[in-house]
Amino acid sequence: MMLKKLMTGIFIILLFSIVNLACTFNHSNSSTMNAIAKLTKAPFGSIEGQEITQYTLTNVNGMQLGIINYGGALTKIITKAKDSSWGDVLTGFDSLSGFTQKANPYFGAIIGRYANRIAKGKYKVDGIEYHAALNNNGQSLHGGLKGFDKVVWTATPLAGDSSLQLNYISKDGEEGYPGNLKIQVVYTLTANNSIKIEYTATTDKTTVINLTNHSYFNLSAGKSPTIYDHILQMNANQYTPVDTVLIPTGEILDVKGTPMDFTQPKRIGDDIDKVQGGYDHNWILNKAAGLQEVTNVYDPLSGRVLTVATTEPGLQFYSGNFLDGSLTHTKNGINYIKHGALTLETQHYPDAPNQSKFQSTILKPGEVYTQTTVYTFSTK
Ligand code: BGC
Repeated sequence: MMLKKLMTGIFIILLFSIVNLACTFNHSNSSTMNAIAKLTKAPFGSIEGQEITQYTLTNVNGMQLGIINYGGALTKIITKAKDSSWGDVLTGFDSLSGFTQKANPYFGAIIGRYANRIAKGKYKVDGIEYHAALNNNGQSLHGGLKGFDKVVWTATPLAGDSSLQLNYISKDGEEGYPGNLKIQVVYTLTANNSIKIEYTATTDKTTVINLTNHSYFNLSAGKSPTIYDHILQMNANQYTPVDTVLIPTGEILDVKGTPMDFTQPKRIGDDIDKVQGGYDHNWILNKAAGLQEVTNVYDPLSGRVLTVATTEPGLQFYSGNFLDGSLTHTKNGINYIKHGALTLETQHYPDAPNQSKFQSTILKPGEVYTQTTVYTFSTK
């Protein structure tokens, strides 16, 4: 009798312990997920005597984000497809030589001081004319000859192992821009498979600023050579048309009834031939100030979905028109061909310093520039 009671007691205590353990495990899984994030470092070569490091962030689900301090570029985004297989959805290179090649079309990089184009590189700030370096058909593109994509950033892993902070000081006059500009970019890989990019900057002289990230995505992770079958939806009723050298004409046009209409989900390949060269335009996002979801792209082959939220008023959807298979040192030797990947660059409008109808891109001393963009990966 005594023995039976003792056994029952032990059984009850054991049961309690198991239930307790399960609860603790569940709790730590949901509320302290970032604590299980991982950050590793590996050498990635050197440039002009400066060491380049690849940082890999891994979240609780196993998703991986690679970042190098050269250009603050993203090097890999490894996510799960619907069939649970893993794949890298980001175009990129297998070594630093890939990133430093002249024809590198800004793969994964931070873009500044002025993302997109400034007509003939000329603009005025406080009545003074400045000349940004010309590097694209007589125009200034993505910050000039040596933009933020070609400089070495100072990288600092942040507590919790899910964020990497990058800092760079752009000197007064660099690439034709006034003011010493202090820039900080924080990349965070969250437990719900988002890559959050937070930019802040301050200046000591009035300047212009437009920062973005130039990641190219192909959600099939190497299975489809083009993005024609990707389905894109954008909350944008208008766009800014461009001239032959891709400078905005200053007009703001409705997308309705044109190949630019992605207000309803549309296969990218459906109308791409109707747009000279493919898509390379700035869409005006239907949004109020603040962080808001603005676009999503779905790859039916892998089931992957990429959703973009941003604080910015514009989005450059570029369908990789100038990719031509000639890049070297590509990941796994992949041939990045025309329309092989797309970019969704959140930004202020191109050439805003010369366009009175576009939102201002002026930053004054004492002000803090901020922009936040979140790329979230899921499947359906
Ligand atoms: C621009 C394209 C340019 C590309 C460079 C995009 O952001 O809109 O016109 O060719 O960057 O890779």
